[in-house]
Amino acid sequence: MHGRGEAFPMKIRDSVAFVTGANRGLGLAFVQELLAVGAWKVYAAARDPKGITLPGAIPISLDVTKPESVAAATRAFTDVNLLINNAGICHWSGIYLNYDPARDLETAA
Ligand SMILES: NC(=O)c1ccc[n+]([C@@H]2O[C@H](COP(=O)([O-])OP(=O)(O)OC[C@H]3O[C@@H](n4cnc5c(N)ncnc54)[C@H](OP(=O)(O)O)[C@@H]3O)[C@@H](O)[C@H]2O)c1
Repeated sequence: MHGRGEAFPMKIRDSVAFVTGANRGLGLAFVQELLAVGAWKVYAAARDPKGITLPGAIPISLDVTKPESVAAATRAFTDVNLLINNAGICHWSGIYLNYDPARDLETAA
């Protein structure tokens, strides 16, 4: 077991992080934890970044299903060295009985 940040091999302190789907759920939790353990800068990306009010987080507009949106973010945030690509949707269904690859690879439109 690794303690909170101490022996963990991933370097978070002083990193420049970018989290997708950062407005709620796990994405918001990632942003909170990155700030808590000393990331230097945390870009918090969402389709509607107005909801991102966490002190220290930098709200960014990004839709991960739109290539032009992803390309613009890639050009704009060249200082990023830690990416958490969290945005997505999860269909809770049986993997074998109801598996539909086309549906399950989609993210919310
Ligand atoms: N929670 C679990 O137990 C669990 C288990 C396995 C995997 N996961 C995966 O972990 C990730 C986060 O889970 P969660 O429970 O936090 O889900 P969630 O509460 O439904 O949040 C999903 C996040 O993804 C964003 N998102 C969806 N489509 C997007 C798009 N096209 N562009 C940008 N952002 C988009 C949502 O933004 P909007 O607010 O704009 O919709 C929201 O911020 C998901 O990929 C999920 O599939 C979760």
